[in-house]
Amino acid sequence: MSKFQRAEALDRLPEQFFARLVGQVGRLQAQGHDVINLGQGNPDLPTPPHIVDALKRAADNPQHHKYPPFRGHAFLKEAVAQFYLREYGVKLNPETEVAVLFGGKAGLVEISQCYLNPGDVALVPDPGYPDYWSGIAMAGAEMALMPLLAENRFLPDFAAIDEQVWDKAKLMFLNYPNNPTGAVANAEFFAEVVNRAERHDVLVVHDFAYAAIGFDGLKPMSFLETPGAKEVGIEIYTMSKTYNMAGWRIGFAVGNEQVIESIQLLQDHFYVSLFGAIQQAAATALTGSQDCVRELVTTYERRRDAFIDRLREHGWKVEKPAGSFFCWLPVPEGHTSLSFANLLLERAHVAVAPGLGFGQAGDGYVRVGMLDSEKRLIEAADRLAACCPAKNGLT
Ligand SMILES: Cc1ncc(COP(=O)(O)O)c(C=O)c1O
Repeated sequence: MSKFQRAEALDRLPEQFFARLVGQVGRLQAQGHDVINLGQGNPDLPTPPHIVDALKRAADNPQHHKYPPFRGHAFLKEAVAQFYLREYGVKLNPETEVAVLFGGKAGLVEISQCYLNPGDVALVPDPGYPDYWSGIAMAGAEMALMPLLAENRFLPDFAAIDEQVWDKAKLMFLNYPNNPTGAVANAEFFAEVVNRAERHDVLVVHDFAYAAIGFDGLKPMSFLETPGAKEVGIEIYTMSKTYNMAGWRIGFAVGNEQVIESIQLLQDHFYVSLFGAIQQAAATALTGSQDCVRELVTTYERRRDAFIDRLREHGWKVEKPAGSFFCWLPVPEGHTSLSFANLLLERAHVAVAPGLGFGQAGDGYVRVGMLDSEKRLIEAADRLAACCPAKNGLT
C-alpha cells in the first residue's frame, strides 16, 4: 500500500481494456506460436523516406536544438493551412485556427479539460475510440452514449437522443472514417451535426484520424467542409495514419478560433511544443508529393479485398468497410465479442480486438486491422474459417 494518496482523477480513468490482449498475444508468441496480430491499430509500414530524410536534415539545424516557439513553428501552421486548402478547399488562418498537438490522442484528451466541468455531459459514439472516455473521466464529466448501429450505417441517430440529454451536452465526439466500424460520413450527415450543435450549443470535436483512408475511389470529407462547421467545432488531424508517422507523435487541431485558443492555452502550461525537426518533417509531408498517401491507400484497399474476399470464399457473409484500415465483423451466434476473440486467438492464433473494448454496442463484433501483408491476411482468413466454419455462424 502506498502512503501517497493519488488524485481522484487518476482513479476515474477507464481500464486499459486491450492490455490483456497484448499480454495474451505475448504469451502465445513466447510459447513459439505464429500469431497473426490484427488486434491493434499500429500502422505496420514505415514512414516514407522523403519525410525521414527531412527529419535527418532538420536534426542538423542548430535552430532546432533550441526551444521551439511555445505554440509551434509558423512554417508548420502555414503548411497545415495549405494542406487543408489543397485537400478539402477549407481556408484556415494559420495563426488562429491551427494548434499543433503531440498526436491526436493528446488533443482528444485535452479538449475535455478545456471545456468540461465535473458533472457536465459529453456525447460519445458507442463503439468508439477509448481516449474520448479518458479525457472526459479526467475532467470528472459524464458520457452520454450514441449507439452506432449497422442499420444506421454506423452513424448516430440524433433523433433517438433525449432532448434533456441534448440540453445538458456540452461536447460531442465524432470520428469518420470510423474506428472501429470502418464507416464513413457524408455531407448530409455533417450538415445535420452542425444543425444539432447550433440548436443545442454543443461543441463538436471531429476526430479525423483516418482522413486519408477511403476506398473504392471515395475521399473522406473533412467536417470543416460543412457550412457553419467552424462556428460549432474543431477537427483533430493526425500524421500517424496518413503518413505512417505514429511513432513521431504529431497532429493538429483545426477550426474554431476560440477552441483552438483554449487548447493552446492549456498546452502553454504543459509543453513547449514539439522538437522543431519533427515539425519541419511534418511540413515536408504535408506540402510535398502525396504519391506515398495514394500508394498507402491502395495497399490497404488491396489488403481489405484480399481478406474479405477470402472470407467470402469460405462462405462468411461479411461487409467491406468504406474507410479506415479496420474490418468490423459480426460475431457468430452464441458468442460475445470476448468469447469469439478468445476462440480465434487460442485456436487460430489470430489476434483481433473484441468489440466490447470500444463500448457496449460493440459487443456483437470484432475489429480486424488490415495491418499485415496480403499473404498473411489471406492466411488469417483461412485460419478463421477453419476454426469457425460458415455454417456455424457468420452466414
Ligand atoms: C480513432 C482514433 N483517433 C485518434 C487516434 C490517435 O492517433 P495519434 O495519437 O497517433 O495521433 C487513433 C489512433 O489509433 C484512432 O484510432
